[in-house]
Amino acid sequence: MSAISLKPARDQRVTVPALLRRKRGARPISMLTAYDFTFARIFDAAGIDVLLVGDSLGNVVQGMDTTLPVTLDEVVYHTRMVARAARRALVVADLPFGSYQVCEEDAVRSAVRCVKDGGAQAVKLEGGTAVSSAIARIVRAEIPVLGHVGLTPQAIHRMGGHRVQGRSEESARRVLEDARAVEAAGAFAVVLEGIPAQLAQSVTDALEIPTVGIGAGPGCDGQVLVMHDMLGFSDWTPSFVKQYASLGALAAQAARCFADDVANGKFPGEEHAYS
Ligand code: KIV
Repeated sequence: MSAISLKPARDQRVTVPALLRRKRGARPISMLTAYDFTFARIFDAAGIDVLLVGDSLGNVVQGMDTTLPVTLDEVVYHTRMVARAARRALVVADLPFGSYQVCEEDAVRSAVRCVKDGGAQAVKLEGGTAVSSAIARIVRAEIPVLGHVGLTPQAIHRMGGHRVQGRSEESARRVLEDARAVEAAGAFAVVLEGIPAQLAQSVTDALEIPTVGIGAGPGCDGQVLVMHDMLGFSDWTPSFVKQYASLGALAAQAARCFADDVANGKFPGEEHAYS
């Protein structure tokens, strides 16, 4: 594997129309979450198509049990860091719980903040038929929307936990209905989370817009993972995650070596001191 240069990517910028053309394309869409400048720069240079500033930051950055307490200010703050780093990737800000459910005006105002103050090029929001009017209203404000159906973590209390959706006939019908509603409302793509692979394939076949799966099998038009899971920073990784590195263990080892060196007077050496 060759080392990745952190020079700005020279490829053309990933745009919403370019992603739409990837439907049933030869090259599936790659999406990773990112929450800060450092990792966003690495992922962008590595050729990731979409950087999602997920409200999963509540879990992996803030250490909370759910995404529900994440605020719009926090999403905007993290989006700004990611947008500053992205030269090629499309930056999508995740609208947090409470920022779009009350009324359509709230939804548009929240999306506008993510674009104006955060530098996002699109927003994501969770839900299907229930939020389709909010999606349509944001799209009318010229802000591209990424939908998200199936297992929607902001609905954790309704679902009774992070449970796979669409297993029963009735639940599968609802997932398909939600995905169709999101498409009809004008979303440019939709995340399918935590649903059986066969259902994800059916939804992908039924829609004209690309689907991006997480825990939804190989039949989607793209895949997304939470960066902490795929890099091995999390204590526990769900079975649908492929862990591509063990950076948590590496960081712990480096910190232990540093602590030992300090304790044993091995750091700083003369070469690390000013003369
Ligand atoms: O918040 C998030 O990171 C997400 C992805 C898991 C799709 O919604």
